[in-house]
Amino acid sequence: MSVVDNQAEANQSEAISAGDGPTMPRTQRSNPLRDPGDRRLPRVPEPCALVVFGVTGDLSRKKLLPAIYDLANRGLLPADFALLGFARRDWGDGDFESLARKAAKEHARTGWDEEVWERLSGNIKFVAGSFDDDMAFDQLASTLEELRASHGIKGNAAFYLSIPPTMFPVVLKQMERTRMADNSTAGGWRRVVVEKPFGHDLPSAKALNTLVDDVFTADDVFRIDHYLGKETVQNLMALRFANQLFEPVWNANYVDSVQITMAEDVGIAGRAGFYDATGAARDVLQNHLLQLLALTAMEEPVEFTADAIRTEKLKVLRAITLPADLSAYAVRGQYEQGWLAGERVRGYRAEEGVPADSKTESYAAVRLGIDTRRWAGVPFYVRTGKRLPRRVTEIAVLFKKAPHLPFSHTDTEELGHNQLVIRVQPDEGVTLKFGSKVPGSMMEVRDVSMDFLYGEAFTEASPEAYERLILDVMLGDATLFPRNEEVEASWRVIDPLEAFWQEQEPEPYRAGEWGPKGSDNMLARDGRSWRRP
Ligand code: BG6
Repeated sequence: MSVVDNQAEANQSEAISAGDGPTMPRTQRSNPLRDPGDRRLPRVPEPCALVVFGVTGDLSRKKLLPAIYDLANRGLLPADFALLGFARRDWGDGDFESLARKAAKEHARTGWDEEVWERLSGNIKFVAGSFDDDMAFDQLASTLEELRASHGIKGNAAFYLSIPPTMFPVVLKQMERTRMADNSTAGGWRRVVVEKPFGHDLPSAKALNTLVDDVFTADDVFRIDHYLGKETVQNLMALRFANQLFEPVWNANYVDSVQITMAEDVGIAGRAGFYDATGAARDVLQNHLLQLLALTAMEEPVEFTADAIRTEKLKVLRAITLPADLSAYAVRGQYEQGWLAGERVRGYRAEEGVPADSKTESYAAVRLGIDTRRWAGVPFYVRTGKRLPRRVTEIAVLFKKAPHLPFSHTDTEELGHNQLVIRVQPDEGVTLKFGSKVPGSMMEVRDVSMDFLYGEAFTEASPEAYERLILDVMLGDATLFPRNEEVEASWRVIDPLEAFWQEQEPEPYRAGEWGPKGSDNMLARDGRSWRRP
Protein backbone atom coordinates (compact mmCIF):
# COMPACT_ATOMS: atom_id res chain seq x y z
CA MET A 1 0.00 0.00 0.00
CA SER A 2 1.45 3.36 -0.94
CA VAL A 3 1.53 6.53 1.13
CA VAL A 4 -1.01 8.01 -1.26
CA ASP A 5 -3.51 5.28 -0.56
CA ASN A 6 -2.97 5.69 3.15
CA GLN A 7 -3.60 9.37 2.81
CA ALA A 8 -6.69 8.89 0.73
CA GLU A 9 -8.03 6.52 3.32
CA ALA A 10 -7.38 9.00 6.12
CA ASN A 11 -8.88 11.84 4.12
CA GLN A 12 -12.04 10.00 3.38
CA SER A 13 -12.75 9.52 7.03
CA GLU A 14 -11.98 13.20 7.63
CA ALA A 15 -14.33 14.20 4.89
CA ILE A 16 -17.05 12.04 6.40
CA SER A 17 -16.66 13.52 9.83
CA ALA A 18 -16.92 17.00 8.33
CA GLY A 19 -20.15 15.90 6.72
CA ASP A 20 -19.05 17.21 3.38
CA GLY A 21 -17.06 14.49 1.78
CA PRO A 22 -17.50 12.03 -1.05
CA THR A 23 -20.85 10.46 -1.71
CA MET A 24 -19.76 6.91 -1.02
CA PRO A 25 -22.03 4.93 1.37
CA ARG A 26 -20.60 4.82 4.89
CA THR A 27 -20.75 1.01 5.04
CA GLN A 28 -18.40 0.80 2.09
CA ARG A 29 -15.92 3.14 3.70
CA SER A 30 -15.73 1.28 6.96
CA ASN A 31 -15.66 -2.18 5.44
CA PRO A 32 -12.68 -3.90 7.08
CA LEU A 33 -12.42 -6.27 4.12
CA ARG A 34 -11.90 -3.40 1.71
CA ASP A 35 -8.55 -3.37 -0.03
CA PRO A 36 -7.12 0.02 0.87
CA GLY A 37 -5.15 0.01 -2.38
CA ASP A 38 -8.40 -0.17 -4.36
CA ARG A 39 -8.29 2.90 -6.60
CA ARG A 40 -11.78 2.39 -7.93
CA LEU A 41 -13.11 4.10 -4.84
CA PRO A 42 -12.98 7.89 -4.83
CA ARG A 43 -9.68 9.24 -3.61
CA VAL A 44 -10.12 12.51 -1.75
CA PRO A 45 -7.12 14.69 -0.93
CA GLU A 46 -6.17 15.99 2.50
CA PRO A 47 -7.43 19.45 3.43
CA CYS A 48 -5.40 21.90 1.34
CA ALA A 49 -5.20 25.16 -0.56
CA LEU A 50 -4.68 25.56 -4.28
CA VAL A 51 -2.93 28.78 -5.20
CA VAL A 52 -3.23 29.75 -8.85
CA PHE A 53 -0.88 32.30 -10.38
CA GLY A 54 -2.24 33.81 -13.58
CA VAL A 55 -5.92 33.28 -12.72
CA THR A 56 -7.16 35.68 -15.35
CA GLY A 57 -5.40 33.83 -18.19
CA ASP A 58 -6.99 31.59 -20.80
CA LEU A 59 -5.87 28.30 -19.29
CA SER A 60 -7.17 29.24 -15.88
CA ARG A 61 -10.58 30.34 -17.16
CA LYS A 62 -11.12 27.56 -19.68
CA LYS A 63 -9.56 24.60 -17.88
CA LEU A 64 -8.40 25.07 -14.28
CA LEU A 65 -11.32 26.88 -12.65
CA PRO A 66 -13.94 24.69 -14.42
CA ALA A 67 -11.98 21.57 -13.39
CA ILE A 68 -12.03 22.70 -9.76
CA TYR A 69 -15.79 23.16 -9.92
CA ASP A 70 -16.15 19.72 -11.55
CA LEU A 71 -14.11 18.14 -8.79
CA ALA A 72 -16.26 19.86 -6.17
CA ASN A 73 -19.38 18.71 -7.97
CA ARG A 74 -18.12 15.13 -8.01
CA GLY A 75 -17.43 15.29 -4.26
CA LEU A 76 -13.70 14.88 -4.79
CA LEU A 77 -12.42 18.02 -3.11
CA PRO A 78 -11.59 17.80 0.57
CA ALA A 79 -14.13 19.35 2.91
CA ASP A 80 -11.50 21.87 3.96
CA PHE A 81 -10.34 23.37 0.74
CA ALA A 82 -9.38 26.89 -0.26
CA LEU A 83 -8.80 28.38 -3.68
CA LEU A 84 -6.47 31.35 -3.82
CA GLY A 85 -6.06 33.51 -6.89
CA PHE A 86 -3.11 35.79 -7.45
CA ALA A 87 -3.02 38.37 -10.25
CA ARG A 88 -2.23 41.96 -11.03
CA ARG A 89 -5.80 43.24 -10.68
CA ASP A 90 -7.27 45.68 -8.25
CA TRP A 91 -9.69 43.04 -7.03
CA GLY A 92 -11.17 41.70 -3.85
CA ASP A 93 -12.27 38.13 -3.10
CA GLY A 94 -15.72 38.84 -4.62
CA ASP A 95 -14.33 39.88 -8.01
CA PHE A 96 -12.30 36.72 -8.26
CA GLU A 97 -15.27 34.67 -7.15
CA SER A 98 -17.36 36.18 -9.99
CA LEU A 99 -14.66 35.42 -12.55
CA ALA A 100 -14.37 31.86 -11.27
CA ARG A 101 -18.15 31.37 -11.28
CA LYS A 102 -18.44 32.65 -14.85
CA ALA A 103 -15.55 30.46 -16.00
CA ALA A 104 -16.97 27.39 -14.30
CA LYS A 105 -20.49 28.03 -15.63
CA GLU A 106 -19.21 28.44 -19.18
CA HIS A 107 -16.67 25.65 -19.34
CA ALA A 108 -17.41 23.04 -16.67
CA ARG A 109 -18.01 19.50 -17.85
CA THR A 110 -20.61 18.63 -15.23
CA GLY A 111 -23.96 20.33 -14.78
CA TRP A 112 -24.36 23.49 -12.76
CA ASP A 113 -25.32 23.10 -9.13
CA GLU A 114 -25.73 26.36 -7.24
CA GLU A 115 -25.33 24.61 -3.89
CA VAL A 116 -21.98 23.17 -4.85
CA TRP A 117 -20.82 26.58 -5.94
CA GLU A 118 -22.09 28.24 -2.77
CA ARG A 119 -20.03 25.84 -0.69
CA LEU A 120 -16.95 26.37 -2.82
CA SER A 121 -17.29 30.14 -3.07
CA GLY A 122 -17.01 30.55 0.70
CA ASN A 123 -13.45 29.31 0.34
CA ILE A 124 -12.27 31.55 -2.48
CA LYS A 125 -9.69 34.24 -1.78
CA PHE A 126 -7.81 36.70 -3.92
CA VAL A 127 -4.49 38.43 -3.44
CA ALA A 128 -3.69 41.34 -5.74
CA GLY A 129 -0.18 42.14 -6.84
CA SER A 130 2.53 41.81 -9.41
CA PHE A 131 5.18 39.12 -9.30
CA ASP A 132 7.93 41.51 -8.22
CA ASP A 133 5.83 42.92 -5.41
CA ASP A 134 7.28 41.68 -2.09
CA MET A 135 4.33 43.00 -0.11
CA ALA A 136 1.84 41.08 -2.21
CA PHE A 137 3.74 37.83 -1.66
CA ASP A 138 4.00 38.54 2.07
CA GLN A 139 0.25 38.94 2.04
CA LEU A 140 -0.17 35.68 0.14
CA ALA A 141 1.96 33.91 2.74
CA SER A 142 -0.06 35.37 5.60
CA THR A 143 -3.35 34.54 3.85
CA LEU A 144 -2.20 30.92 3.71
CA GLU A 145 -1.40 31.08 7.41
CA GLU A 146 -4.83 32.51 8.21
CA LEU A 147 -6.49 29.80 6.15
CA ARG A 148 -4.70 27.20 8.19
CA ALA A 149 -6.64 28.41 11.23
CA SER A 150 -9.90 29.49 9.62
CA HIS A 151 -10.27 26.71 7.03
CA GLY A 152 -8.24 23.91 8.59
CA ILE A 153 -6.01 23.49 5.53
CA LYS A 154 -3.19 22.18 7.75
CA GLY A 155 -0.33 23.89 5.92
CA ASN A 156 -0.95 21.90 2.74
CA ALA A 157 -0.74 23.96 -0.45
CA ALA A 158 -0.18 23.46 -4.16
CA PHE A 159 1.04 26.39 -6.26
CA TYR A 160 -0.09 26.32 -9.87
CA LEU A 161 2.13 28.37 -12.19
CA SER A 162 -0.28 29.17 -15.00
CA ILE A 163 2.04 31.93 -16.18
CA PRO A 164 4.57 32.47 -18.99
CA PRO A 165 7.83 30.59 -18.29
CA THR A 166 9.72 33.90 -18.30
CA MET A 167 7.89 34.68 -15.05
CA PHE A 168 8.88 31.45 -13.30
CA PRO A 169 12.16 32.73 -11.82
CA VAL A 170 10.66 35.75 -10.11
CA VAL A 171 7.68 33.83 -8.71
CA LEU A 172 9.85 30.95 -7.49
CA LYS A 173 12.23 33.39 -5.82
CA GLN A 174 9.29 35.03 -4.06
CA MET A 175 8.11 31.66 -2.81
CA GLU A 176 11.58 30.90 -1.54
CA ARG A 177 11.89 34.29 0.15
CA THR A 178 8.56 34.00 1.92
CA ARG A 179 9.29 30.31 2.76
CA MET A 180 5.99 29.33 1.17
CA ALA A 181 7.75 26.49 -0.65
CA ASP A 182 9.26 25.08 2.50
CA ASN A 183 7.33 22.05 3.64
CA SER A 184 9.56 21.59 6.67
CA THR A 185 8.20 24.77 8.25
CA ALA A 186 4.75 24.73 6.65
CA GLY A 187 3.63 21.76 8.73
CA GLY A 188 2.14 20.12 5.65
CA TRP A 189 3.05 19.49 2.05
CA ARG A 190 3.97 22.20 -0.45
CA ARG A 191 3.86 21.35 -4.17
CA VAL A 192 4.37 23.25 -7.37
CA VAL A 193 2.64 22.65 -10.68
CA VAL A 194 4.50 23.75 -13.78
CA GLU A 195 2.71 24.09 -17.09
CA LYS A 196 4.43 23.33 -20.36
CA PRO A 197 6.46 24.45 -22.26
CA PHE A 198 9.27 23.27 -20.00
CA GLY A 199 11.90 25.42 -21.59
CA HIS A 200 12.65 26.18 -25.20
CA ASP A 201 15.47 23.70 -25.74
CA LEU A 202 17.68 21.43 -23.66
CA PRO A 203 19.82 24.16 -22.02
CA SER A 204 16.77 26.25 -21.04
CA ALA A 205 14.92 23.16 -19.76
CA LYS A 206 17.92 22.26 -17.63
CA ALA A 207 18.10 25.81 -16.29
CA LEU A 208 14.37 25.71 -15.50
CA ASN A 209 14.66 22.35 -13.79
CA THR A 210 17.56 23.61 -11.67
CA LEU A 211 15.59 26.68 -10.74
CA VAL A 212 12.49 24.74 -9.69
CA ASP A 213 14.54 22.08 -7.90
CA ASP A 214 16.36 24.77 -5.92
CA VAL A 215 13.10 25.89 -4.39
CA PHE A 216 11.03 22.68 -4.25
CA THR A 217 12.15 19.13 -3.59
CA ALA A 218 11.99 16.96 -6.73
CA ASP A 219 9.03 14.90 -5.47
CA ASP A 220 7.01 18.08 -4.97
CA VAL A 221 7.32 19.24 -8.58
CA PHE A 222 4.44 18.30 -10.90
CA ARG A 223 5.02 19.03 -14.59
CA ILE A 224 1.76 19.04 -16.47
CA ASP A 225 1.43 17.41 -19.85
CA HIS A 226 -2.33 17.37 -20.04
CA TYR A 227 -2.36 14.54 -22.60
CA LEU A 228 -1.38 12.16 -19.82
CA GLY A 229 -4.57 13.12 -17.99
CA LYS A 230 -6.76 11.93 -20.87
CA GLU A 231 -8.62 8.67 -20.19
CA THR A 232 -7.77 7.24 -23.59
CA VAL A 233 -4.07 7.81 -23.02
CA GLN A 234 -4.24 5.99 -19.70
CA ASN A 235 -6.22 3.26 -21.44
CA LEU A 236 -3.20 2.61 -23.60
CA MET A 237 -1.56 1.09 -20.54
CA ALA A 238 -4.68 -0.93 -19.69
CA LEU A 239 -4.92 -2.18 -23.26
CA ARG A 240 -1.30 -3.25 -23.38
CA PHE A 241 -0.70 -4.56 -19.90
CA ALA A 242 -4.07 -5.88 -18.73
CA ASN A 243 -4.62 -8.06 -21.78
CA GLN A 244 -2.85 -11.05 -23.22
CA LEU A 245 -4.01 -10.40 -26.75
CA PHE A 246 -1.84 -7.50 -27.86
CA GLU A 247 1.49 -7.84 -26.10
CA PRO A 248 2.80 -10.87 -28.04
CA VAL A 249 2.47 -8.96 -31.33
CA TRP A 250 3.62 -5.60 -29.96
CA ASN A 251 7.11 -5.65 -31.43
CA ALA A 252 9.21 -5.48 -34.57
CA ASN A 253 8.36 -9.08 -35.54
CA TYR A 254 4.74 -8.13 -36.17
CA VAL A 255 4.52 -4.34 -36.33
CA ASP A 256 5.24 -2.68 -39.65
CA SER A 257 5.07 0.92 -38.45
CA VAL A 258 3.32 3.22 -36.00
CA GLN A 259 1.61 6.50 -36.88
CA ILE A 260 0.86 9.04 -34.19
CA THR A 261 -1.29 11.95 -35.27
CA MET A 262 -2.48 15.00 -33.40
CA ALA A 263 -4.44 17.15 -35.84
CA GLU A 264 -6.33 20.32 -35.03
CA ASP A 265 -8.75 22.25 -37.17
CA VAL A 266 -8.26 25.41 -35.14
CA GLY A 267 -5.59 27.97 -35.95
CA ILE A 268 -3.49 29.68 -33.33
CA ALA A 269 -6.59 30.96 -31.52
CA GLY A 270 -5.32 34.42 -30.58
CA ARG A 271 -2.04 33.10 -29.12
CA ALA A 272 0.28 34.63 -31.72
CA GLY A 273 2.83 35.86 -29.18
CA PHE A 274 3.30 32.43 -27.67
CA TYR A 275 2.84 30.37 -30.79
CA ASP A 276 5.06 32.30 -33.13
CA ALA A 277 7.94 32.00 -30.69
CA THR A 278 7.23 28.30 -30.20
CA GLY A 279 5.97 26.48 -33.31
CA ALA A 280 4.36 23.07 -33.66
CA ALA A 281 7.43 20.98 -32.80
CA ARG A 282 8.05 22.68 -29.47
CA ASP A 283 4.36 23.15 -28.68
CA VAL A 284 3.16 19.60 -29.26
CA LEU A 285 5.80 17.21 -30.61
CA GLN A 286 8.29 17.70 -27.77
CA ASN A 287 5.70 16.88 -25.12
CA HIS A 288 2.31 15.40 -26.08
CA LEU A 289 3.49 13.34 -29.05
CA LEU A 290 6.68 12.03 -27.49
CA GLN A 291 4.74 11.06 -24.36
CA LEU A 292 2.22 9.16 -26.50
CA LEU A 293 5.11 7.47 -28.28
CA ALA A 294 6.75 6.56 -24.98
CA LEU A 295 3.56 4.97 -23.64
CA THR A 296 3.07 3.07 -26.89
CA ALA A 297 6.61 1.73 -27.00
CA MET A 298 7.59 1.25 -23.36
CA GLU A 299 8.18 -2.08 -21.65
CA GLU A 300 5.75 -3.25 -19.00
CA PRO A 301 6.53 -1.44 -15.74
CA VAL A 302 7.37 -3.73 -12.82
CA GLU A 303 4.50 -2.19 -10.88
CA PHE A 304 1.90 0.48 -11.53
CA THR A 305 3.64 3.27 -9.63
CA ALA A 306 4.89 6.67 -10.68
CA ASP A 307 8.52 5.65 -10.48
CA ALA A 308 8.17 2.39 -12.35
CA ILE A 309 6.16 3.94 -15.19
CA ARG A 310 8.39 6.97 -15.52
CA THR A 311 11.48 4.73 -15.61
CA GLU A 312 10.11 2.76 -18.55
CA LYS A 313 9.05 5.89 -20.44
CA LEU A 314 12.46 7.41 -19.94
CA LYS A 315 14.15 4.35 -21.42
CA VAL A 316 12.12 4.79 -24.61
CA LEU A 317 12.75 8.52 -24.84
CA ARG A 318 16.47 7.90 -24.49
CA ALA A 319 16.39 5.25 -27.22
CA ILE A 320 14.72 7.50 -29.83
CA THR A 321 16.78 8.12 -32.93
CA LEU A 322 16.34 10.75 -35.61
CA PRO A 323 16.67 9.77 -39.26
CA ALA A 324 20.14 10.27 -40.73
CA ASP A 325 18.61 12.16 -43.62
CA LEU A 326 16.51 14.88 -42.02
CA SER A 327 15.79 16.54 -45.36
CA ALA A 328 13.88 13.40 -46.42
CA TYR A 329 12.27 12.43 -43.11
CA ALA A 330 11.46 15.64 -41.25
CA VAL A 331 8.90 18.07 -42.61
CA ARG A 332 7.60 21.36 -41.32
CA GLY A 333 4.79 23.34 -42.84
CA GLN A 334 2.83 26.56 -42.45
CA TYR A 335 -0.81 26.97 -43.38
CA GLU A 336 -1.97 29.33 -46.08
CA GLN A 337 -5.48 30.61 -46.45
CA GLY A 338 -8.06 28.01 -47.33
CA TRP A 339 -11.45 26.59 -46.49
CA LEU A 340 -12.50 24.78 -43.35
CA ALA A 341 -16.03 23.61 -42.57
CA GLY A 342 -17.35 25.84 -45.34
CA GLU A 343 -15.60 28.93 -44.02
CA ARG A 344 -12.72 30.81 -45.52
CA VAL A 345 -9.85 31.03 -43.05
CA ARG A 346 -6.78 33.21 -43.26
CA GLY A 347 -3.23 31.98 -43.62
CA TYR A 348 -0.78 31.77 -40.70
CA ARG A 349 1.16 34.86 -41.70
CA ALA A 350 -2.06 36.87 -41.87
CA GLU A 351 -3.08 35.91 -38.31
CA GLU A 352 -3.20 38.85 -35.96
CA GLY A 353 0.13 39.39 -34.26
CA VAL A 354 2.12 37.10 -36.58
CA PRO A 355 4.94 38.79 -38.55
CA ALA A 356 4.31 38.72 -42.31
CA ASP A 357 7.61 36.91 -42.89
CA SER A 358 7.28 34.42 -40.01
CA LYS A 359 9.10 31.13 -40.50
CA THR A 360 7.35 29.41 -37.59
CA GLU A 361 5.85 26.05 -38.44
CA SER A 362 2.21 25.21 -37.76
CA TYR A 363 2.80 21.62 -38.91
CA ALA A 364 5.59 19.21 -38.07
CA ALA A 365 6.14 15.58 -39.01
CA VAL A 366 9.11 13.32 -38.52
CA ARG A 367 10.10 9.68 -38.77
CA LEU A 368 11.60 8.44 -35.53
CA GLY A 369 13.25 5.16 -34.67
CA ILE A 370 13.61 3.41 -31.32
CA ASP A 371 16.87 1.62 -30.81
CA THR A 372 15.75 -1.31 -28.73
CA ARG A 373 15.38 -5.01 -29.47
CA ARG A 374 11.59 -4.64 -29.40
CA TRP A 375 11.43 -1.83 -31.94
CA ALA A 376 14.57 -2.04 -34.08
CA GLY A 377 13.69 -1.13 -37.65
CA VAL A 378 10.09 -0.05 -36.95
CA PRO A 379 9.44 3.54 -38.07
CA PHE A 380 7.35 5.73 -35.78
CA TYR A 381 5.84 8.49 -37.90
CA VAL A 382 4.57 11.38 -35.81
CA ARG A 383 2.77 14.47 -37.04
CA THR A 384 0.92 17.44 -35.67
CA GLY A 385 -0.62 20.45 -37.30
CA LYS A 386 -3.10 23.30 -37.06
CA ARG A 387 -5.80 24.10 -39.58
CA LEU A 388 -5.98 20.48 -40.72
CA PRO A 389 -9.38 19.14 -41.84
CA ARG A 390 -10.48 18.00 -38.41
CA ARG A 391 -9.54 17.64 -34.76
CA VAL A 392 -8.30 14.14 -34.17
CA THR A 393 -5.62 12.50 -32.07
CA GLU A 394 -4.83 8.84 -32.61
CA ILE A 395 -2.16 6.21 -32.33
CA ALA A 396 -2.26 3.68 -35.16
CA VAL A 397 -0.26 0.49 -34.93
CA LEU A 398 0.00 -1.00 -38.42
CA PHE A 399 0.87 -4.68 -38.54
CA LYS A 400 2.91 -6.45 -41.17
CA LYS A 401 1.02 -8.16 -43.95
CA ALA A 402 0.52 -11.89 -43.68
CA PRO A 403 3.65 -13.60 -45.03
CA HIS A 404 1.60 -15.79 -47.33
CA LEU A 405 -1.93 -15.48 -48.71
CA PRO A 406 -3.56 -18.63 -50.07
CA PHE A 407 -5.88 -16.45 -52.19
CA SER A 408 -5.44 -15.05 -55.64
CA HIS A 409 -4.09 -11.52 -55.92
CA THR A 410 -7.42 -10.15 -57.09
CA ASP A 411 -9.21 -11.69 -54.07
CA THR A 412 -7.17 -9.59 -51.66
CA GLU A 413 -6.57 -6.48 -53.73
CA GLU A 414 -8.41 -4.30 -51.25
CA LEU A 415 -6.85 -5.78 -48.15
CA GLY A 416 -4.61 -3.35 -46.26
CA HIS A 417 -2.49 -3.73 -43.14
CA ASN A 418 -4.20 -4.99 -39.99
CA GLN A 419 -4.38 -1.97 -37.73
CA LEU A 420 -5.04 -1.24 -34.11
CA VAL A 421 -6.05 2.37 -33.72
CA ILE A 422 -6.32 4.03 -30.34
CA ARG A 423 -8.58 7.02 -30.81
CA VAL A 424 -7.46 9.49 -28.16
CA GLN A 425 -10.05 12.07 -29.24
CA PRO A 426 -12.75 12.64 -30.33
CA ASP A 427 -14.93 9.46 -30.53
CA GLU A 428 -12.70 8.05 -27.79
CA GLY A 429 -12.15 4.36 -28.23
CA VAL A 430 -10.24 1.67 -30.09
CA THR A 431 -10.66 0.31 -33.61
CA LEU A 432 -9.31 -2.98 -34.87
CA LYS A 433 -9.05 -3.25 -38.64
CA PHE A 434 -8.71 -6.62 -40.32
CA GLY A 435 -9.70 -8.46 -43.49
CA SER A 436 -13.02 -10.19 -43.87
CA LYS A 437 -14.77 -12.07 -46.62
CA VAL A 438 -17.24 -10.05 -48.62
CA PRO A 439 -20.56 -11.95 -48.64
CA GLY A 440 -21.24 -13.71 -51.94
CA SER A 441 -20.10 -16.61 -54.03
CA MET A 442 -16.62 -15.18 -54.68
CA MET A 443 -13.68 -15.21 -52.26
CA GLU A 444 -13.12 -11.51 -51.91
CA VAL A 445 -11.38 -10.18 -48.79
CA ARG A 446 -11.74 -6.58 -47.73
CA ASP A 447 -10.89 -4.49 -44.66
CA VAL A 448 -13.53 -4.19 -41.95
CA SER A 449 -13.44 -2.39 -38.59
CA MET A 450 -14.40 -3.51 -35.13
CA ASP A 451 -15.04 -0.61 -32.82
CA PHE A 452 -14.96 -0.03 -29.10
CA LEU A 453 -16.45 3.32 -28.16
CA TYR A 454 -16.10 4.70 -24.64
CA GLY A 455 -19.43 6.45 -24.99
CA GLU A 456 -21.22 3.17 -25.68
CA ALA A 457 -19.34 0.80 -23.40
CA PHE A 458 -19.48 2.90 -20.23
CA THR A 459 -22.24 4.97 -18.72
CA GLU A 460 -19.81 7.18 -16.86
CA ALA A 461 -18.42 10.12 -18.82
CA SER A 462 -14.67 10.61 -18.91
CA PRO A 463 -13.35 13.37 -16.68
CA GLU A 464 -11.43 16.22 -18.27
CA ALA A 465 -7.67 15.78 -18.21
CA TYR A 466 -7.29 18.74 -15.85
CA GLU A 467 -9.73 17.32 -13.31
CA ARG A 468 -7.66 14.18 -13.05
CA LEU A 469 -4.34 16.01 -12.94
CA ILE A 470 -5.31 18.65 -10.37
CA LEU A 471 -6.72 15.91 -8.18
CA ASP A 472 -3.51 13.91 -8.51
CA VAL A 473 -1.42 16.92 -7.51
CA MET A 474 -3.46 17.28 -4.34
CA LEU A 475 -3.15 13.55 -3.69
CA GLY A 476 0.59 13.65 -4.33
CA ASP A 477 0.30 10.99 -7.03
CA ALA A 478 2.93 11.69 -9.70
CA THR A 479 2.12 8.77 -12.02
CA LEU A 480 0.75 10.97 -14.80
CA PHE A 481 3.40 13.68 -14.64
CA PRO A 482 6.64 13.61 -16.66
CA ARG A 483 9.86 13.68 -14.69
CA ASN A 484 12.54 16.26 -15.50
CA GLU A 485 14.75 13.56 -17.08
CA GLU A 486 11.91 12.81 -19.52
CA VAL A 487 11.62 16.47 -20.42
CA GLU A 488 15.34 16.69 -21.03
CA ALA A 489 15.42 13.47 -23.07
CA SER A 490 12.62 14.87 -25.23
CA TRP A 491 14.55 18.06 -25.90
CA ARG A 492 17.50 15.93 -27.00
CA VAL A 493 15.24 14.67 -29.79
CA ILE A 494 13.83 18.06 -30.73
CA ASP A 495 16.95 20.25 -30.58
CA PRO A 496 18.70 18.76 -33.65
CA LEU A 497 15.42 19.01 -35.57
CA GLU A 498 15.03 22.66 -34.67
CA ALA A 499 18.65 23.33 -35.59
CA PHE A 500 18.10 21.68 -38.97
CA TRP A 501 14.92 23.66 -39.59
CA GLN A 502 16.21 26.99 -38.37
CA GLU A 503 17.30 28.40 -41.68
CA GLN A 504 14.54 26.83 -43.76
CA GLU A 505 11.27 28.22 -44.95
CA PRO A 506 8.38 26.00 -43.84
CA GLU A 507 6.57 24.29 -46.70
CA PRO A 508 3.14 25.87 -47.30
CA TYR A 509 -0.08 23.87 -47.12
CA ARG A 510 -3.60 25.05 -47.65
CA ALA A 511 -5.77 25.37 -44.54
CA GLY A 512 -8.23 22.47 -44.60
CA GLU A 513 -5.75 20.02 -46.18
CA TRP A 514 -3.77 17.28 -44.45
CA GLY A 515 -0.47 19.19 -44.30
CA PRO A 516 2.26 19.86 -46.85
CA LYS A 517 3.06 17.55 -49.78
CA GLY A 518 6.48 16.86 -48.29
CA SER A 519 4.81 14.98 -45.47
CA ASP A 520 3.08 12.57 -47.87
CA ASN A 521 6.33 12.23 -49.81
CA MET A 522 8.13 11.30 -46.62
CA LEU A 523 5.95 8.20 -46.21
CA ALA A 524 5.82 7.49 -49.94
CA ARG A 525 9.61 7.26 -49.90
CA ASP A 526 9.17 4.29 -47.55
CA GLY A 527 6.36 2.80 -49.64
CA ARG A 528 3.75 3.86 -47.07
CA SER A 529 1.06 6.50 -46.72
CA TRP A 530 -0.59 8.37 -43.85
CA ARG A 531 -3.85 7.03 -42.56
CA ARG A 532 -6.77 9.36 -43.19
CA PRO A 533 -8.22 9.49 -39.69
C1 BG6 B 1 -1.71 22.54 -25.98
C2 BG6 B 1 -1.08 23.31 -27.10
O1 BG6 B 1 -0.72 21.95 -25.18
O2 BG6 B 1 -2.55 21.52 -26.50
C3 BG6 B 1 -2.14 23.88 -28.02
O3 BG6 B 1 -0.31 24.37 -26.56
C4 BG6 B 1 -3.09 22.81 -28.47
O4 BG6 B 1 -1.54 24.53 -29.14
C5 BG6 B 1 -3.63 22.03 -27.28
O5 BG6 B 1 -4.17 23.43 -29.16
C6 BG6 B 1 -4.49 20.86 -27.71
O6 BG6 B 1 -5.06 20.23 -26.60
P1 BG6 B 1 -6.32 19.27 -26.77
O7 BG6 B 1 -6.51 18.67 -25.42
O8 BG6 B 1 -7.46 20.15 -27.21
O9 BG6 B 1 -5.97 18.27 -27.82
